[in-house]
Amino acid sequence: MRGDLERVLFDEPAIHRRLDDIAAQISNDYRELDLTVIAVLHGSLMFVADLLRRIPLPLKLDCLSVASYHGKAQSSGEVVFKQIALPDVGGRDVLILDDILDSGHTLAAVRETLETAKPHSIRVCVLLSKKKQRAREVDTDYVGFEIEDEFVVGYGLDFRERYRNLPYIGVLRKELLEEG
Ligand code: IMP
Ligand code: MG
Repeated sequence: MRGDLERVLFDEPAIHRRLDDIAAQISNDYRELDLTVIAVLHGSLMFVADLLRRIPLPLKLDCLSVASYHGKAQSSGEVVFKQIALPDVGGRDVLILDDILDSGHTLAAVRETLETAKPHSIRVCVLLSKKKQRAREVDTDYVGFEIEDEFVVGYGLDFRERYRNLPYIGVLRKELLEEG
């Protein structure tokens, strides 16, 4: 799988060092609050597992499963929620965790949907944020790394469901994106 990458952007130690910083900030900011983490699956799996083990607060964890890509490298704009019941976040201090902010469609839709349950507060934390003009603006409160507008895989991020198990994050070779 390493051969499919153009280059590695963040190796394991770099990711873990950054998680130490973000976890310390979150732990401090949510000291007095009723933290409920909402993980956006599947891309955020590794991120959530590694980040939450660094936060020594009595938090709740729930997951949302959404899809907007349908096997392509560009967002279709249509965000589909894959479960019937949404997490009950009424009155809670919600922190949405996702792998990457790209067009903004996914996080804007997740945020809007959770807001209908009247949480006390909502913040957004992403591991990666692409520097680009977004289709929908999304305010982020915690960002692991800002990256250029390139397609990345690894550490939970996939291309057609592959590469999620790479322990590092890298840029996928362009010719693989263009195939079939
Ligand atoms: P958005 O709705 O365009 O902001 O995209 C959000 C979702 O698209 C993320 O949660 C990822 O699952 C996926 N995505 C966006 N960019 C990439 C990428 O560079 N690599 C892998 N997945 C991506
Ligand atoms: Mg994906």
